[in-house]
This record gives sequence, structure tokens and C-alpha cells, in this order.
Amino acid sequence: MAADDKTNTQEDAMQKLKEMRRSVTLGGGEERIQSQHEKGKQTPRERIEKLVDPGSFIEIMPFMLHRHSDFGMDKNRILGDGLVAGYGKIDGRRVCIYAQDFTILGGSFSEVAGVKLAKLMDMAMEAGVPVIGLSDGGGARIQEGVWSLWAFGELFYRNTLASGVVPQISVELGPCAGGAVYSPAITDFIIMTDKTSHMFITGPEVIKAVTGEEVDFETLGGASAHSTVSGVSHFQANDEAHALALTRSLVGYLPSNNAEPAPMVEPSDDPLRMDKALDSLVPADPNQPYDMHDVIQRVFDLDSFLEVHAGFARNAVVGFARLHGQSVGVVGQQPAYMAGSIDIDAADKIARFVRFCDAFNLPVITFQDSPGFLPGVAQEHGGIIRHGAKIVYAYSEATVPKLTVITRKGYGGAYIVMGSKHLGADMVFAWPTAEIAVMGAEGAVNILFRKELKAAEDAKAERERLVAEYRDKFANPYNAAAGGHIDDIILPSETRPRLIAALELLRDKQSSLPAKKHGNIPL
Ligand code: HXC
Repeated sequence: MAADDKTNTQEDAMQKLKEMRRSVTLGGGEERIQSQHEKGKQTPRERIEKLVDPGSFIEIMPFMLHRHSDFGMDKNRILGDGLVAGYGKIDGRRVCIYAQDFTILGGSFSEVAGVKLAKLMDMAMEAGVPVIGLSDGGGARIQEGVWSLWAFGELFYRNTLASGVVPQISVELGPCAGGAVYSPAITDFIIMTDKTSHMFITGPEVIKAVTGEEVDFETLGGASAHSTVSGVSHFQANDEAHALALTRSLVGYLPSNNAEPAPMVEPSDDPLRMDKALDSLVPADPNQPYDMHDVIQRVFDLDSFLEVHAGFARNAVVGFARLHGQSVGVVGQQPAYMAGSIDIDAADKIARFVRFCDAFNLPVITFQDSPGFLPGVAQEHGGIIRHGAKIVYAYSEATVPKLTVITRKGYGGAYIVMGSKHLGADMVFAWPTAEIAVMGAEGAVNILFRKELKAAEDAKAERERLVAEYRDKFANPYNAAAGGHIDDIILPSETRPRLIAALELLRDKQSSLPAKKHGNIPL
């Protein structure tokens, strides 16, 4: 072969690769990309570019092609085939990413997607790197039959194996139909874009055919429905840019895997800062509400609180924050909503969050103020016993540092389950406004003195006297402190430095559970 021919062949080969790469980035073609943009959505590569540090994304298996030919599939062979997979960095930290491509057969999930994802997730688990999935697709690729079901099975299996090993985040940016919802459901967090993303097991057409009920996508499975009613979604984003920014922010609070400690950032707030406003934050009247967000904002590093499930079960507040630069999980009750009582949804929300923190070495800091479990037939028949038990289980088995602050009501079951010393909390502080008792004064007096109140000449005055007596005895933290059930009574303004000092003490905490295959949490 002449030297010139060789050069030409080499040049051709380089040129071909460049052209192939360009074809890959075009996905389903310019028309479909335009249609995607018109719907307010981006292509997978545009999304990934916004998610990761500039220029850090490297794609794997971009040239894969499907091998099916039924239903005209032989005319639909497009490079990459509906799923982009690879790895990149967020704030310099490694992440694995995949994104469905709606421009190729509606982002439907295919055999090729299964092959790419199996490889990506196995690598992520071995390397100890979080996995982020960007969903936008029509579910199992109908034309591929059992092969697309195989692909979903491969993904679900790996989602399950990876659970508790590396953080998994699902970002819903379009339809997520049928069995496709079960992958996000197994992952740790779901972020949904408002109006453009929808998650559902059966779509409106099937629902109409089976039940006769007419419903639109938004009512059925929009971000609002799943972020406020079902609790499937943890974050409701305004649009794609917001969803991707939230994802970046969330990753910043998490270790890359279960063997890494909770991440630290350079502290930007005074560890000894004592916010005097905390001392007057809890109203004197125990029936007056206050907002637990105010407590959280004043105790943790400034502006560091990232709330999870903000719109779901608002009687509980959970999220991530930083304390002197260290990532922690925060759990609180919300006296400003349903008086902070614990219902089925709040129990699920709290228990799942505590388990996540425990799996990923994030200390759990609990703010307790609850009159107890929500009474009522609906709650009992809905299984409050089985759901409430999840909180007990989650706190008891958590071996990360557990710190609890009782700000006001620590009544009955709520006192025990919400991170008490009895379930293994390392340090429990009470504010002077704390009331630690089996129940509130009115309820207790009604039960204990029913006969006396019936016989009393002036029942109202007698009730007031008895309530005052009960409050004097039990509606304070001193009884609990005398029994050693709490570690100290502190001024609310002292909370920040006390929590920081306790966390410092517990930094290298070692604690283990009895050997077992796994426990049997009441699901
Ligand atoms: C193959 C599909 C597809 C699918 C959509 N497309 N879903 N191709 N398999 N599952 C194709 C369409 O035919 C269309 O191709 C293109 O993608 C864009 O779809 P449109 O319907 O035009 O888009 P839009 O109006 O935005 O609606 C999107 C949608 C809708 C809501 C996702 O396509 C839809 O309802 N798809 C079916 C959803 C579903 O039931 N999936 C199966 C679930 S069962 P052309 O070439 O015409 O543009 C399942 C089982 C898994 O997932 C079990 C695991 C446990």
C-alpha cells in the first residue's frame, strides 16, 4: 500500500468516527429534538451537560444498536438506542448518570438500555459512586416484547442491590409510565418537574377502559400529586433547570457510598453562634403553634437546610443541613401543621428518611414536639400501628450518631419513638419549655379525676386547679431530667454549640447490631 493511501485510510477512519459521534448526538433527529424543545424539554445530552461539571461527562457504549425487526423496527436502528449512559463529576466528585432519550422511540426502555444500565450500575457499585437517572420515556418498548421486560428486570435488580451501597437519585423530566416507575421507587430520592413529568402505573386510557373514570395525566401523576398526596416524589421542581440544580445540591450533602463518612464542607458559620430569638420562639401557651422551620434555620449553618418531602406529610419536617460544615439529617415535628401529631404519612416519611441517613453515615438530629399519634378510625384502619412502628424500628436500628432536642411536647408514644434515649439516642437535650409526660394536662385530668370532677360543686374551677397541679408536676423537663431520661436541660439559644460539641464527640462512634441476615421492618 502506498504511503498516501495509508494516510487517506487513516484520515477516513478519523473522519468516520467524527461523523458517527455527530450522529450519536443527534439522537432521533433534528425534527424530534425540536419537538422535544417545544414541549419545554431538553435532549438527554443537554440535560447531562447542565447536571455535571463542564466537560466532565464521558459516555459509554454510544454506538450500540438494537437487534430487533418486528413491527418495522429494522427501519428504526438509531445509534445509542434511546438511553445515554456514562460518568462525570458534580463539584469534582464522581457520579454515574443515565438518561432516556425521548427522541428515539419515545425513550422507550429497550434491551440495549438494559445492557448499558447493567454495566453502568455494576461499575457504580464497585467504584462506590452515586447513580443519577434522568427519566423521560414511554416505559417498556412494546416492539421488543420480553426483551424490554428483561431490561427492566435487570435495572430493578441492580437498583435493589445498590440500595444502601451508593445513593441513587431519580429525576423525572417527562413521562414515566408503567413498570418504569418501579426503578425510581426503589431509588433513594425522586425529583419531578412541574407539569412536564408524570408518573403512573396505568395511564388515563387504561383507567377509562377498566374503571370508566376519566382523569388527565396531571391529576393522575403530576409532580404536585406525587409531592403532596402520594409522597412518591421528594422534590417538586419548577422546571428542568431547577430539577438539575436540586440534584447537584442534593449530591453535595451525601457521601458517595456507604463506606464514606458524611461529607464536610469548609464551615462558613460561627459554631458558637447563639441565636437569642430561639429563647422566645416557643409560645407560652402549649396550644399555640410555631414553625419548626424557624428553629432549624436558626440552629444549623446559615441557609444550609435542604428540605426533603416539603409538601408531603407537612406535620413532619425532614431534610439535610450542615452543622459546622458537616452534613447531617434533620427530623422534626411541625407544631404549625396538625399540631405536629404523627399520622401514617408522617410515619412513613420519617422512618424512610432516618433509614437513609443511617445507611449513609449521616448523623440524625431530631427536634421533638408532638402531642402523639393522630387518633381516629381512618388512621387505625389505614394501619397507623404498622406504619408508626416503622419509626420505632428506624430509630432503634440506626447506629449513626443520634441527637435529640425536645422543644416542647414529648407526650406518650411520640416521646419514645422520636429519638428518645430508650431507642438509643446518644444525647437528648430538653428546652425549659419541654413537657415530658404520658399525655397533655387536660387529657390526663379527664382520665384520672373523672369521678372527682363529676362530684365537684364547681367542676370548672376544680378542673383548672387539677390541670395546674398536673402541669406543675409533669409539664416540664425536670422530672425526666431527675430520672436521667434526658441528658441536660439547655437554653434554646445554646442548642447550636451543644449539638456541634456532641457531634464532635461522636465523630468516630462505633456501634453495631446483632448479627442477622436482615431484620423484618413492618413494611
Ligand atoms: C414503543 C413507544 C412507547 C413504548 C411511546 N412510544 N411509548 N414506542 N414502546 N412503550 C413511541 C410512540 O409510538 C411515538 O412514536 C413516540 O414514542 C412518541 O410518543 P407519543 O405518544 O407521540 O408522545 P406523547 O404524546 O408525548 O406521549 C408520551 C406517552 C405515550 C404518554 C409516554 O407515548 C404513552 O402513553 N406511551 C405508552 C405508555 C405505556 O403504556 N407504556 C408501556 C407500559 S407497560 P412515533 O414514531 O409515532 O412518533 C410497561 C411494562 C413494564 O412498562 C413492566 C416492568 C415491571
